[in-house]
Amino acid sequence: MSWINENFLKLQESYLFSTIAKKVERFTKEHPDQKVIKLGIGDVTKPIVPACVEAMHKAVEEVGTKEGFRGYGPEQGYGFLRKAIVENDYKARGIEIEEEEVFISDGAKCDCGNIVDIFAPNNKVAITDPVYPVYLDTNIMSGREIMYLPVTAENNFVPALPKEKVDMIYLCFPNNPTGTVLSKEELKKWVDYAKENQSIILYDSAYEAFITEREIPHSIYEIEGAKEVAIEFRSYSKTAGFTGIRCAYVVVPKALKGYTKTGKKVSLNQLWNRRTCTKFNGVSYIVQRAAEAIYTKEGKKQIQESIKAYLENAKIMKDGLEEAGFTVYGGVNSPYVWLKVPNGMSSWEFFDQFLEEVNIVGTPGSGFGKQGEGYFRLTAFATKENTIEAMKRIKSKKANWKL
Ligand code: MLT
Repeated sequence: MSWINENFLKLQESYLFSTIAKKVERFTKEHPDQKVIKLGIGDVTKPIVPACVEAMHKAVEEVGTKEGFRGYGPEQGYGFLRKAIVENDYKARGIEIEEEEVFISDGAKCDCGNIVDIFAPNNKVAITDPVYPVYLDTNIMSGREIMYLPVTAENNFVPALPKEKVDMIYLCFPNNPTGTVLSKEELKKWVDYAKENQSIILYDSAYEAFITEREIPHSIYEIEGAKEVAIEFRSYSKTAGFTGIRCAYVVVPKALKGYTKTGKKVSLNQLWNRRTCTKFNGVSYIVQRAAEAIYTKEGKKQIQESIKAYLENAKIMKDGLEEAGFTVYGGVNSPYVWLKVPNGMSSWEFFDQFLEEVNIVGTPGSGFGKQGEGYFRLTAFATKENTIEAMKRIKSKKANWKL
């Protein structure tokens, strides 16, 4: 007999974005002549920038030679990429991170999901609500107790510190799904809380490249003492269009300690390294060379152009939706716009109506958690033409929502 992990039975039947994809597929089959605009899952539309394409070509040529051939690489990532990260993403912002604290991976979704391996199942976990479903699902899978921290318009999307002690805290800023940010002062409160309670913060900073306001922190390590309490996740998916290429990284500082049952301190960097060596064989050399090219002068310039274009889409959406009469959040430091569903409709009712009437796909807020009910998320990752077209359709049908 093979016993299953029964925690899986506590999950919703289907992953949010798979449910949406199925609904959209059905709609498209039934309405083949209608042009559906997809503003649902945050998948990018701009091609890989030339600097990265060139780097990949070069790497392909290299591995095709006797001298340049590479087999298994270091599980933690090649030194050239770890160095580029340390210098560009951290040193340039006045943050000291060591190369051995950086682990290259095939995606922040995988990192956020896999990190739970090194933590005990009896840890109490705090998760904002609404939330990127991966944090929640992976902790349900491993049977942890979960505490929800509401983030809604009522608290200005700033989660309040838990009243009781929690061991692991997930924070994502700029936030997915709400598109809102946390100031340095607010983030400091979390670092202080984690220090006092010996908790660990799992800080998802996958959208930091979209921050436009100067005072907003890009990394949790901008807060003093954060290296003793936080793991940080970063991704090239949205920044450099790597959703299909797959490359990301996680920073696990050496100062970070977890505890055994008997109270002995253990290095989380060592545990994560041990897990990585056993379960992962590293990201391909070709992809890591592409990621390295993001940090060249040309690469930086090209990537900034894409980010600027997505942020312009976000502005087009925010302005368009507001003009149509919707209440809108996010979209300034983020590629996500979070809108209030009108007339007391549920998020899924609004999803269906939006798809039927304007042929636009969004993501129902309730798919991100109970507190997301009554909200709806749209992404700015479509083409500019489709973004403009979507807003035109919405404005022309605004009477439908009695805004
Ligand atoms: C989203 O739409 O929330 C993201 O694209 C999902 C992801 O990054 O896995």
